[in-house]
Amino acid sequence: MFSKDIYNQRRELLCKSVNGGVALFLGNDEVPMNYAGNTYPFRQDSTFLYYFGLDMPGLAAVFDLDANQSIIFGDEISLEDVIWMGPQQSLKSRAENVGIQETIPSNHLAEYLKRVIQSGRIVHYLPAYRDRHTNKLLDLLEMEKDSIDAGVSAKLVQAVIDQRSVKSEAEIDEIEKAHAIAREMQITAMKMARPGIYEHEIAGTIEGIALSSGGNIAFPVILSIRGEILHNNYHGNMLRDGDMLINDSGAESQMHYASDITRTIPVNGRFTDKQKDIYEIVLKAQDEAIKAIKPGQKNKAVHLQTATIITHGLKDIGLMKGNCEDAVANGAHALFFPHGLGHMLGLDVHDMENLGEDRVGYNGETKRSDQFGLASLRLAKNLKSGYVLTIEPGIYFIPELIKKWKGENKFKDYINYDRLENYHKFGGIRIEDDIVVTDTGQRIIGKPIPKTVSDIEKMCQE
Ligand code: GLY
Ligand code: MN
Ligand code: MN
Repeated sequence: MFSKDIYNQRRELLCKSVNGGVALFLGNDEVPMNYAGNTYPFRQDSTFLYYFGLDMPGLAAVFDLDANQSIIFGDEISLEDVIWMGPQQSLKSRAENVGIQETIPSNHLAEYLKRVIQSGRIVHYLPAYRDRHTNKLLDLLEMEKDSIDAGVSAKLVQAVIDQRSVKSEAEIDEIEKAHAIAREMQITAMKMARPGIYEHEIAGTIEGIALSSGGNIAFPVILSIRGEILHNNYHGNMLRDGDMLINDSGAESQMHYASDITRTIPVNGRFTDKQKDIYEIVLKAQDEAIKAIKPGQKNKAVHLQTATIITHGLKDIGLMKGNCEDAVANGAHALFFPHGLGHMLGLDVHDMENLGEDRVGYNGETKRSDQFGLASLRLAKNLKSGYVLTIEPGIYFIPELIKKWKGENKFKDYINYDRLENYHKFGGIRIEDDIVVTDTGQRIIGKPIPKTVSDIEKMCQE
C-alpha cells in the first residue's frame, strides 16, 4: 500500500469537493464460486482501495465529509481466523497504516448510518455493481430496491472520477510495473506461438506470468486466432500455419493498478503480404493517434482521425472507396473498426467504468453518439495531463456483419463488397498501448514491446 499521507491527502481532497454529509464506501466481500467456502480470487473494490488502501474482504468505510474523519467498519481477527488462516495483523493496526484511528465492528454500521440520517445529514454512496452491494445498501439505508439507483450521489461520483482520473507519479509507477508484466506476457506469447499449439497453452502460460509476479491478470485474457471477435475468451483453437493470433492481455500490479496491451502476430513467424497490408494500416493509425495525444485534445477527435486513417488505408488497397472523410462522418468505416479508440486505465482496466461510462468519458460538451461504432467510444472528452489511457485501433473482418451490410447494400458508395469476398477468413488485427498524458504531450508507458512487422517477426522466430 502507499504511505498513510497519500490516503490522508486523497480523503482531504475529497471532502473539499463534496459539500458535507457522510460518504459510505462498501468494500468487496468474498464471492462463492461453487460453494460458500470455495471462493473466486478476492478483488477489493477499486475506489475503496484508492481512499482506504485496505485489501481485504468484509470492510466498509464511512467518511464524514464535514469533519474529514473516517471510520473503518469491520471485524477484528478472531481465534477462529488465526486457526484457519494463521496470525494476522489486527484490523486496528491496518487501519492506522492508512491514517484511520477508529475501527468499529461491522454490525454497528446500520445503527451509525441511521443516526446520520436521523440528524438530517446526507449519506452519499456510489453505484453498486455487485448484487451483494445492492442488498447491503437496501438493508443499511432501509431503502426500496427501485430507489437505490436514483439515490446514488452524483456529487460523490463526479468528485471520485475527477480525482481518480488524474494519476500521480506514484500511481504511474504502479502502472509501469503492471506494464512490465504485460510485456513479459506478450513476448512469451510471441515466442510460444507456432502451428500445432493450442490457444489455451499460451493463455495459461501468460496468465501464470501475471500470477507469478504477485499480482493477477487485469481482465480475462483475450488470446485468439479469431481476432475478429473483439472480446473472445475462448481458448480452444489450435493455431495453424497462416493464422494470426491476437493477444489482448494485461496484469495488475500488487497494488492492483492495471496494464492492457494488444499485439497481433503471425503464428508461423511471418505475416503474409495480405496480412502485412492491413497490419501497416492499423500501425499507422495507432502511431498517429498516439502522436495526437496531449492536454486539451478531445479524444473523440483522435478517434475520428484514426477512423479516417483506417479508411484511407482501406481505400488504398481497394476495400473502401469514395470520399474518406464523408465515409467516416457517415460511419461506413465501422464495418472494419466497430469499437472505440480506447479507455481510461488505472485501478480498473476500464478505469471507473462502474461509476458510469458516460460520466468518466464524456461531459457536458461531449455527448455520446448513437452511430454504430462511434457509440462504443468510451473516452471522448478533452484530455488532461495525468490521464492514463489506451490507444487500441483495429481492423476486423466480421463475416456476419459484412453479410448483413452487403445484404442491405449499406454504404455501397464507400465499401467494395466484392473485394471483401477474399477476406472472410482474415480475422482481425488490433494494436494497443498504454499512454500517459504529460504536460506537453504524451508518453508510451513502459519499455517497448515489439510492434513493427519486422520486430514482431524477429521475436516470433526466437
Ligand atoms: N482489454 C479489453 C480492452 O482492450 O478494452
Ligand atoms: Mn485490451
Ligand atoms: Mn483496452
